[in-house]
Amino acid sequence: MSSDSPSPGPASAEQLAVDSADPRYGFGVDVGGSGVKGGIVDLQTGELVGDRFKIKTPQPATPTAVAATVAEIVAHFSWAGPVGITLPAVVSGGVVRTAANIDHEWIGTDPYDLFGHHLVTRSLTVLNDADAAGLAEAKFGLGADEVDGVVIMLTLGTGIGSAILFNGGQLLPNTELGHLQVGKTIAEEQASARAKEEHDWSYEKWAGKLSRVLHEYEKLFSPTLFILGGGISRKANKWIPLLSTTTPAVPARLLNTAGIVGAAMAARDGLRP
Ligand code: BGC
Repeated sequence: MSSDSPSPGPASAEQLAVDSADPRYGFGVDVGGSGVKGGIVDLQTGELVGDRFKIKTPQPATPTAVAATVAEIVAHFSWAGPVGITLPAVVSGGVVRTAANIDHEWIGTDPYDLFGHHLVTRSLTVLNDADAAGLAEAKFGLGADEVDGVVIMLTLGTGIGSAILFNGGQLLPNTELGHLQVGKTIAEEQASARAKEEHDWSYEKWAGKLSRVLHEYEKLFSPTLFILGGGISRKANKWIPLLSTTTPAVPARLLNTAGIVGAAMAARDGLRP
């Protein structure tokens, strides 16, 4: 089964055999603009147990419609343990503050109350999608042995998501570095994968734009490592060597499972950004 097509098949015997109470395992759901994806995560290896389950994001992606979809995914695996859920949004103090690629009705909602009404579990974590990906990549990705300094993980997609990790993997949540003004426009308008596609830029041209943005982050945070993710990282060999940063940059390794894995980690750790 292709990892990007909807996956209506039943949960496997291996998945149903996992005990939700076993702290070795967790559950993550990644809410994106086009798909809602979830699965059981082995927290020792950072790998999914079997396939993930994906349902198309309901349109409009209102809080109630998305919560019902998340509940369907959790129920698919008969999971009753802690659940981590990502949103393409700033989530702080138990409130959704922004909404990128999901309905604006999300802004100001209490996601704990919302998901609490749809899910059996009382143990929930709701966090920004890039923050979740950053947690997972810093622990299980390529640069995982370098997390002692400040690590900046970016997801280069429709927008730019960011996660800052320090002290061996501690998260500074909701950094929204994609919205930093760099020159005349915000970073994600010049260096996201969408910007490359919309302007039909070559890798050389786009790497120049991305380098300019990364230089800005270097000035502000003196990172020890950039981890660069998003679908475009599958072709990282075409553009990472073209970057002019002094900080080393590595491609994300988990890619489309990072959000699920990081959400599951955050939920098991009882994180409340
Ligand atoms: C949003 C972030 C999100 C990122 C990736 C940005 O446009 O502001 O909250 O993490 O897109 O989805």
